[in-house]
Amino acid sequence: MNIRTAVFPVAGWGTRFLPATKAVPKELLPIVDRPAIQYAIEEAIAAGIERVILVTSEHKRSIEDHFDIASDLEAVLEARGDIEHLRAVRAVADMVHLVTVRQKEQLGLGHAVLMARDAVGHEPFAVVLPDDLIIGESPALGELIAAYKATSSSVVAVMEVPKDQTRRYGIVDPDTSLPSPDGGRTIPLRGLVEKPAPADAPSNLAIVGRYVLSPKIFEKLEQTPHGAGGEIQLTDAIQALASELPIVGYKFSGTRYDVGAPEGWLKANLDLALEHPTYGAALRAALATHLRDGER
Ligand code: UTP
Repeated sequence: MNIRTAVFPVAGWGTRFLPATKAVPKELLPIVDRPAIQYAIEEAIAAGIERVILVTSEHKRSIEDHFDIASDLEAVLEARGDIEHLRAVRAVADMVHLVTVRQKEQLGLGHAVLMARDAVGHEPFAVVLPDDLIIGESPALGELIAAYKATSSSVVAVMEVPKDQTRRYGIVDPDTSLPSPDGGRTIPLRGLVEKPAPADAPSNLAIVGRYVLSPKIFEKLEQTPHGAGGEIQLTDAIQALASELPIVGYKFSGTRYDVGAPEGWLKANLDLALEHPTYGAALRAALATHLRDGER
């Protein structure tokens, strides 16, 4: 079955990036020249997604505005003959068909996904967390969708992390009794564990914010008990799903940045700016001067 719908949960508070995110959603902080969420939307479209369901909150209205038509701005640009910016602004509005649902209380990622239940319907769907920026030759979500089609299993994106960092992530439990097709990129799973201590971690493969899920996940989310802070964890619901349906991890080929916090956001900006066709050369020169002066 084709995957045509992607859920983008963007209702979180973004506390790791305060005070920058006091009035501006973290999803709209720029990575070089575009808001972070635009990269994730572009990735989803490149992966064949036709419909994006944004799970949002009252503080995040400006995300919808970014993907809407800005008539006044377009009129000004047109009157000025600024065709380049007019095209850029219009291209964002034409990029995607957005459906918005509200998460009225911030009760966790699992709860946010559950809010999209009616909008998704009874078909498998993708979940994309725009905090995880993935840059690569092919869209990471497209790789997951291919793995979903090849295995008829729900799929979670995974990446290797140092063993002493397992406490920061959901960690997958590989089922080593089953073959791992696709040169080891597709890994059958027994289940997942949320933020285990290194000694208890079943692997060093961490879950990253791209998923392709059976609609049965909604039943599991409804049955998942609220944990710490009243939150419903998506990881717990996927663990429950794993007892009934096959689940695989997929080692995507790109590089992932956690742009929901300053360190990852700075690294992403640096890497992408250094490679940028317009800004790269000037930035490399500035950096060389900075490093040389620092050595003195
Ligand atoms: P995070 O764990 O990054 O939480 O959520 P957060 O609140 O956004 O950010 P911090 O930790 O306070 O800095 C992972 C994803 O789940 C969404 C977030 O928007 C993000 O895309 N989310 C989280 C919701 O949509 N609703 C929630 O209640 C919690």
